[in-house]
Amino acid sequence: MSSTKAIEAVGLVKRYGEKVALGGVDLEVPRGSVCGLLGPNGAGKTTAVRVLATLTEPDGGEARVAGADIRTDPVAVRRSIGLAAQDATVDGLLTGRENLVMIGELHHLGRRRARSRADELLERFSLVDAADRLAKDYSGGMRRRLDLAATLVAEPQILFLDEPTTGLDPRARNELWAVLDQLVADGATILLTTQYLEEADRLADEIVVIDHGRVIARGDARSLKREIGGDQLHVVCADADDLARVAAMAERIAGAPAKTDVTARSVTAPTDGGAAAVAALASELSRGGIEVEDLGLRQPTLDDVFLTLTGAPAEPAADEALEEAA
Ligand SMILES: Nc1ncnc2c1ncn2[C@@H]1O[C@H](COP(=O)(O)OP(=O)(O)OP(=O)(O)O)[C@@H](O)[C@H]1O
Ligand SMILES: [Mg+2]
Repeated sequence: MSSTKAIEAVGLVKRYGEKVALGGVDLEVPRGSVCGLLGPNGAGKTTAVRVLATLTEPDGGEARVAGADIRTDPVAVRRSIGLAAQDATVDGLLTGRENLVMIGELHHLGRRRARSRADELLERFSLVDAADRLAKDYSGGMRRRLDLAATLVAEPQILFLDEPTTGLDPRARNELWAVLDQLVADGATILLTTQYLEEADRLADEIVVIDHGRVIARGDARSLKREIGGDQLHVVCADADDLARVAAMAERIAGAPAKTDVTARSVTAPTDGGAAAVAALASELSRGGIEVEDLGLRQPTLDDVFLTLTGAPAEPAADEALEEAA
């Protein structure tokens, strides 16, 4: 295994009783890059992170993280990584600053260095004003930022981020993405898990799609989208009587068959024409005197990815499945 790879895994298997959480996963993450592990609930994302972070042992396969074998040299692995788990790990009864100082001391930074490191991170994550408030009173976005700051105290080269933005509103998500951009610019290697295609697209150099513990696709966002059909022209008509005409226009501009949904009064057609295709359609619609409620490019969703790759929708979370069964 070569040292240009921050993470290399071959055939990772993890079982919980009968349940195969990882069914032979291969991963290669070059140093300084971002790998996005994309999959629905129960796909095996957290299990993969836990195995690579040496929190649990695999039942098969091998992996190296920062050049160290996860089985034979877990201490070296742990020294090189930072892990932001799916559930917040900071202590709610300590302030933001106290959390960071405590973690620094646990890493034997020494009190003075632990304090200055905490100050640096509070500054970097825009938490200076909140530094002396209890973490339990932070908003979700502030907590996620504090989690991330906590993983960076010991300056790890490799970061594992398990669903870093789940539950955040769009603004908090954007802020966190900007922070991650900065980390990558500074040379970090990141393995992040997400249920959002948009997030993997925004952050990852390579996206690895997993389902039922298996890799079902991998590639950069562009090639993956090409594989699953890419952007779609999307129009919602004010009047359902216009649907047929709009479908004809969309087909002509997209150069591909359009799909009409009468209930939603919508027409969609796959296109790689980007904004120019939208502009062309907008001007045809206005020439034709057709009133629309919505017009634009729609990106494929995680559901589109799964429909295309597996022929089945992404598996709903257990509680949704129960609701559907009821
Ligand atoms: N400690 C455990 N004991 C038993 N089964 C487990 C355990 N951890 C995970 N599993 C099972 O392994 C499978 C993969 O779980 P995992 O938590 O890795 O999924 P995930 O992709 O992280 O899902 P989510 O998006 O909900 O976080 C699931 O079927 C889960 O129920
Ligand atoms: Mg998980």
